[in-house]
Amino acid sequence: MKLIKFKTYAEMSEYGAKIVQKTVKEKPKCVLGLATGSTPLGLYENLIKKYNNNCIYFGDVKTINLDEYYGIDGKHDQSYRYYMNKNFFDKIGILYANTFVPNGMAENIEKECKEYEDRIDEIGIDLQILGIGNNGHIGFNEPCNHFPSKTHLVDLSESTIRANSRFFANLSDVPTKAITMGIGSIMKAKKIILLATGKKKEIIEKAMYGDVTPEVPASILQFHPNVTVLICEEM
Ligand code: PGA
Repeated sequence: MKLIKFKTYAEMSEYGAKIVQKTVKEKPKCVLGLATGSTPLGLYENLIKKYNNNCIYFGDVKTINLDEYYGIDGKHDQSYRYYMNKNFFDKIGILYANTFVPNGMAENIEKECKEYEDRIDEIGIDLQILGIGNNGHIGFNEPCNHFPSKTHLVDLSESTIRANSRFFANLSDVPTKAITMGIGSIMKAKKIILLATGKKKEIIEKAMYGDVTPEVPASILQFHPNVTVLICEEM
C-alpha cells in the first residue's frame, strides 16, 4: 500500500480527482467504484469543475457504488442514491442508466445482492474510491469475525449508526441495516484509492501496518496489489 500525505483537505481532494481524471482519460469506458460520506465530497467537487472546464467526459463512464441503506428509497434525502445524484451525477453529464447503487427497497434482498455482485463481475471496476469508518469499515463491512466476500445485507454497528446520526434528525431515524459490496467485491477492483482525513489517522495506521484481521476490515487492503491511501492532516 502506498501512502501519500497532504497538508490540506483541498490538496488531497485535488490529487484524488487527478487520479480519476487520468483513469477516465486512459480508458473513456472505464468503471468507477464510488463511495459516499463526507470525505470524497471534495474529490467530486474537483471532478465537477473539470467537467465544467471540458477537461473530463463522463458520457461513456459507468459507476457502481459501494453501498446503500436498507429500508429507504432513492428519493430519501439521506439515501446514497440521493447523495450521488445531488453531489455528483446531476452535474457531470453522466447517463443515469450507467450509474449503479443498490436498491435499498428491494423486496427480494438475496436477488438484489446476487444481481449486484453479478454486475460487478460483468462490468469490472477499474478504480475504486474508498473512505474508511472510525471502526475501520470499508463500504459497510463492519468489524466482525470474517471477511464477507460478496454483496450482502449487513447489520450496522452501533458506532456506525452513531457516527451517521449526524445526518439524521434523530438517532432512531438512522437505518440499522444496509446493502454493501463485500470485502471480496472491493478487492476485485484493479486499483483502489482510499481517502481519509486527519481524524482517521489512528485507524489508517492500524489498517496499513497492523495485523490483517476482519476486526479491522480495511486491513485486507494490505493484500491488494494496487492501493494508494491519501490522507490529509486537516479535519
Ligand atoms: P466519512 O465516512 O467520509 O463521512 O468519514 C466514511 C465511512 O464511514 O466509510
